[in-house]
Amino acid sequence: MSITSGIPSGIPSPLKLRPRGDQRPGQHPGQQSGAVLPNKMTARGVKVFYGAKQALKGIDLDIHESRVLALIGPSGCGKSTFLRCLNRMNDTVEGCRVEGRIALDGEDVYGKAVDAVQLRARVGMVFQKPNPFPKSIYDNIAYGPRIHGLASGRDELDEVVQSSLKRAGLWGEVKDRLREPGTSLSGGQQQRLCIARAIAVSPEVILMDEPCSALDPIATAHIEELIDELRANYTIVIVTHNMQQAARVSQRTAFFHLGEMVECDDTEEIFTNPRDERTQGYITGRYG
Ligand SMILES: Nc1ncnc2c1ncn2[C@@H]1O[C@H](COP(=O)(O)OP(=O)(O)OP(=O)(O)O)[C@@H](O)[C@H]1O
Ligand SMILES: [Mg+2]
Repeated sequence: MSITSGIPSGIPSPLKLRPRGDQRPGQHPGQQSGAVLPNKMTARGVKVFYGAKQALKGIDLDIHESRVLALIGPSGCGKSTFLRCLNRMNDTVEGCRVEGRIALDGEDVYGKAVDAVQLRARVGMVFQKPNPFPKSIYDNIAYGPRIHGLASGRDELDEVVQSSLKRAGLWGEVKDRLREPGTSLSGGQQQRLCIARAIAVSPEVILMDEPCSALDPIATAHIEELIDELRANYTIVIVTHNMQQAARVSQRTAFFHLGEMVECDDTEEIFTNPRDERTQGYITGRYG
């Protein structure tokens, strides 16, 4: 994996990532009208290659703090590839090479001093198919805090498990069955378990790759409500094929096409007044 040094001006040079725990829960800078939203993450000139094949052709994108950004576009355009760049999940993909710069709070996530495991605790991920560990409901949530040393003692761990399940809207349904396997839950419950697992390590950004595509409409509505609540405390990037979902849950939307980011704007603007005819074609269902 390599990263080029074509760093645009105005972006601070790579520094050590901010230590974990320096969060401001409850803070929601965009709540004040007229407030300028800080960029939680930025991508500049991001190119991705799988062997000789180029999947992303130089993506520039700003991800605003405490907002939901939706990534839309036809199958194979590079949405998942881009999402995986944000927390270096592509590091684990054989033959994958990333160029350009991705910053979290202004700091290069591909910097030499950055530990990818720590980064993924700050930038968590929820996948398309719910993937609970083959462990109890309790241990699914407790796993991350244990390996990152985020809870000292049983009481604190119990507290983290409970608050994560509450935030994910699952506590009421599982509080009497915490020792049962995570896989014994319904698909929608499993997906909320995976969201709770991501939350348990206090991430700052949550990446979701088509988190509802395996769920029925009721479970989907549940997750969409949850996303709306979570954005008070987390920055969220969600990939979706569902235009209505993008319109419901996101404040900003980026349209990808053939490895390019064609345009990114307020969600309402993208859906009512897209600038590029490729975006127009996609949202009106002419292709994709
Ligand atoms: N591990 C891989 N090895 C080789 N090529 C890959 C790999 N993963 C993705 N690609 C290719 O990179 C391109 C972008 O794929 P990606 O999965 O990012 O698209 P996507 O927009 O998420 O599509 P979908 O909507 O179908 O999930 C595609 O041409 C895909 O075939
Ligand atoms: Mg994908």
